[in-house]
Amino acid sequence: MSKENGRIGSYRERIQGLGSVEDVLSFRFSDAAKLYSAYLNPYLVWISRFIGFNKSFRHASGCYLEDSKGSRYLDFLSGFGSLNLGHEPPKVLEALRQVEHYPNILQSYPNPFAGALAQYLVRLTSEKLGKVFFCNSGTEACEAAIKLTRAATGKKVLVYAEGAFHGKSMGSLSISGRERYKKPFAPLLADTKCVPYGDADALDKVLRQGDAVAFIVEPIQGEAGVIVPKNGYLKSVRKICDQHKVLLILDEVQTGMGRTGRLFCYEHDAIEPDVLLLSKSLGAGVMPIGAMLTKNEIWSRAYGSIEKCLLHTSTFGGNTKACAAGIAAIRTLISENVIENAAQTGELLISKLVVMQKRFTVLKAVRGRGLMIGMTLARLKGNKPIMEGALALWVVRQLFKRHKIISAFTLNNYDVLRIAPPLIVGKTEVNFYLNALEDVLKSAEKFARLRLVKETAKV
Ligand SMILES: Cc1ncc(COP(=O)(O)O)c(C=O)c1O
Repeated sequence: MSKENGRIGSYRERIQGLGSVEDVLSFRFSDAAKLYSAYLNPYLVWISRFIGFNKSFRHASGCYLEDSKGSRYLDFLSGFGSLNLGHEPPKVLEALRQVEHYPNILQSYPNPFAGALAQYLVRLTSEKLGKVFFCNSGTEACEAAIKLTRAATGKKVLVYAEGAFHGKSMGSLSISGRERYKKPFAPLLADTKCVPYGDADALDKVLRQGDAVAFIVEPIQGEAGVIVPKNGYLKSVRKICDQHKVLLILDEVQTGMGRTGRLFCYEHDAIEPDVLLLSKSLGAGVMPIGAMLTKNEIWSRAYGSIEKCLLHTSTFGGNTKACAAGIAAIRTLISENVIENAAQTGELLISKLVVMQKRFTVLKAVRGRGLMIGMTLARLKGNKPIMEGALALWVVRQLFKRHKIISAFTLNNYDVLRIAPPLIVGKTEVNFYLNALEDVLKSAEKFARLRLVKETAKV
């Protein structure tokens, strides 16, 4: 900040010498790290350096990124599942150019793009989910569901699953399953109850108490470590919720938009939710957008009058650009058979990983559906706080350092290496990944022997 004789300068003076968008495009990692450390969060920069991500990425397209030295990196994380169509999908970018001059935000105006995207979503679900609320992220979709179900029923108790991840705003956090993220923010929402994931009998027992408004659950738990419940779990959940007149909220923020080989993961189980939550790849990772879908009668009970229709709103929710991106993303997913590719490529990848598992003692388990895959790795002795003894983090570093592959572990379980490439991934990328993993796991066996495997990670 420019100060002359103790006087703070004019706005013009104060921004003098700061980077324009064009300048920022040519910033190196060190420039970015300096700014990020000073003004955002220095520890995130530390983590980035620790993993080895200290590169100046310049360009991204499809499954690949390129750094300032022209090196190419394979993305097997895809923005935690936000880039189902890969980086910079051409048809989505084209849609944004098409709406360039159309008003993006006009409050109290029925934006045709919001209406059109809602129609796509309603058509693509069972059509029983007839009303849509647009917001800007996964956690906001979850907040919308909490408010909707309470307002529609007058009941309070929200039931959720151990290990669940629904976001980090106060409501979503209250029904997420990791104490470490919750503790500093207490008290969170009262009137919540937690049940073990995958245990229908436990759910039945809690719902029998008669005070629950809704059960919120991920069809496959992502951040808990890609936990796929036993066949029939979701069907039982649906039945139990119906028996006790409790609403079923499915959080498909991560599993939705083709990730598991169907547009929505619940299709595998032939059930329907009362409330469906979407975000991440809904805007192809180009525009932030979230959505909550629900049945007409539930929506009407909560918001169906002129007095109640403004009880839950969002400034940016349903803006033109986000919805245009959503329309183009859905059309591309369907017309280019991207969902089928996720199913087939995922099956191939899982089958090869299962074979690989037999050769490596550090690889404890492989599981997943479509291109949502998790691998549990052994745990090491020595508890650096960031690592919690997780070999998965070491593998993430080596995949990046040696093979220029971007990956990560899961947020609520550091023992699990996640595989979540863009759904457009082909055989070339899959073979490259498998060869790289083979190489890194060979070293991991040696590394684990040196560091002594402390205990078997929870599989
Ligand atoms: C299942 C699920 N729900 C909700 C969220 C929260 O989404 P956001 O980070 O956009 O708030 C996530 C994020 O990873 C998620 O995986």
